[in-house]
Amino acid sequence: MPGKVIIGLQWGDEGKGKISAYLCRNARLVVRFNGGANAGHTVPLGNTELRLHLLPAGVVSCRKAAIGSGVYLDIRTLIDEIKIVQEIIGEIELTISPRAHIVLGIHRELDGYLEDIRGGKGIGTTRRGIGPAAMFKYGRIGLRIIDIIENNISNDNLRFISSLMGWKYSEYKYVEEVRELRSEIDKIRRYVGNVSNVIRSELQNGQTVIFEGAQGTMLDLDHGTYPYVTSSTTLASAAAHGVGISLKELSEVIGIIKAYTTRVGEGPLPTEISGKLAEEIRIKGKEFGATTGRPRRIGWLDLFQLNYAARLNGVDKLIITHLDTLSGLTKLKVCVGYELDGEKVQEFPETVNRLSRVSPIYAELEGWDALTREQVDKIVKEGYGALPRPMRKYIEFVEDSLKIPVKLISIGPRIQDVIER
Ligand code: IMO
Ligand code: MG
Repeated sequence: MPGKVIIGLQWGDEGKGKISAYLCRNARLVVRFNGGANAGHTVPLGNTELRLHLLPAGVVSCRKAAIGSGVYLDIRTLIDEIKIVQEIIGEIELTISPRAHIVLGIHRELDGYLEDIRGGKGIGTTRRGIGPAAMFKYGRIGLRIIDIIENNISNDNLRFISSLMGWKYSEYKYVEEVRELRSEIDKIRRYVGNVSNVIRSELQNGQTVIFEGAQGTMLDLDHGTYPYVTSSTTLASAAAHGVGISLKELSEVIGIIKAYTTRVGEGPLPTEISGKLAEEIRIKGKEFGATTGRPRRIGWLDLFQLNYAARLNGVDKLIITHLDTLSGLTKLKVCVGYELDGEKVQEFPETVNRLSRVSPIYAELEGWDALTREQVDKIVKEGYGALPRPMRKYIEFVEDSLKIPVKLISIGPRIQDVIER
């Protein structure tokens, strides 16, 4: 019963969408368990691409998806996505947890407001309301799908939210929104069901289930670069918790690494590069946020950070993406450690204060030339040995440093541009 978890090991946008679409060709079911519409998973589809925020990207391959209670649901985004996906690939099977919390208009507004009043010193959130929706969830005043379906909206809760939000929002607005949501939820009501049971029954039948993580390890609320993180758990362990199955039902953790580092939003990025080189990589790798369109910040690969991330998740296998994007450079830098105040750093820093002061220690590796489409096709057919030698060295350097095998390598934008090893 293979339950495989795909986790981003950096700051998000590692290529989880495409890899999930690839792995789901041999899976029965794909599941989202964390985050919300702050995620942006891009799947290449023929000559275009599809950007999904709530439906797991792997659904384009296996046509059967589930969304667990760990996901913050933006109902309208979800309805739009279901429609778009069905227009492209036809009917899909979907199960949505009745326990999933709903992102309300006030959450999105509050997200923007909280960013704005920080006066240019915000987190750089996606403004999709995730932080405030999490505040409501953990403050035990959230609204779940089932609460709306069963009309479990107590007046006490309403009064509480109104006084809490009194500075800006009236009770009326909330009641009004709930009323609108009820008719929206009617449109997806047939999908609401027991996600744990759906997953468990596939696993018990020996089918493969892919758990498609959102965001990246360094954006984890507990273990990431707090406070420059997202408001949910992004680690592999969230896969069990966010859908309501036991840890024992997960059999494999697959860590995805982009061949360099990117970050959207604020917060330290120790290996950050700027200027012409960063711009070149950004354009070649299409490094603009899939949710907000913001240019992503670019950095060299950071093995010190990746080692921390790999241990947190218990990664069994690695997948490297975007190796093609790095082509054309003579030398590539790879961070192998940090120095702070003249001393080698032993543990990944717990504060952004210290993390923003570290100096990366770099190893230099040889670069490789760009591959033509024909070369990519040939290499994909012939396998790992056909890759340019410096590319293999780069991959093996990562493998040796992290002591985890690299099993899949992406050398082009299309779903099929990957090499299994
Ligand atoms: P995927 O799934 C990259 C970042 C935001 C911001 C911080 C907090 O595509 O990898 P939030 O809106 O979550 O409160 O913002 O987290 N962030 C992401 N960065 N990829 C993502 O998702 C992200 N989801 C959130 O840019 O810095
Ligand atoms: Mg993304």
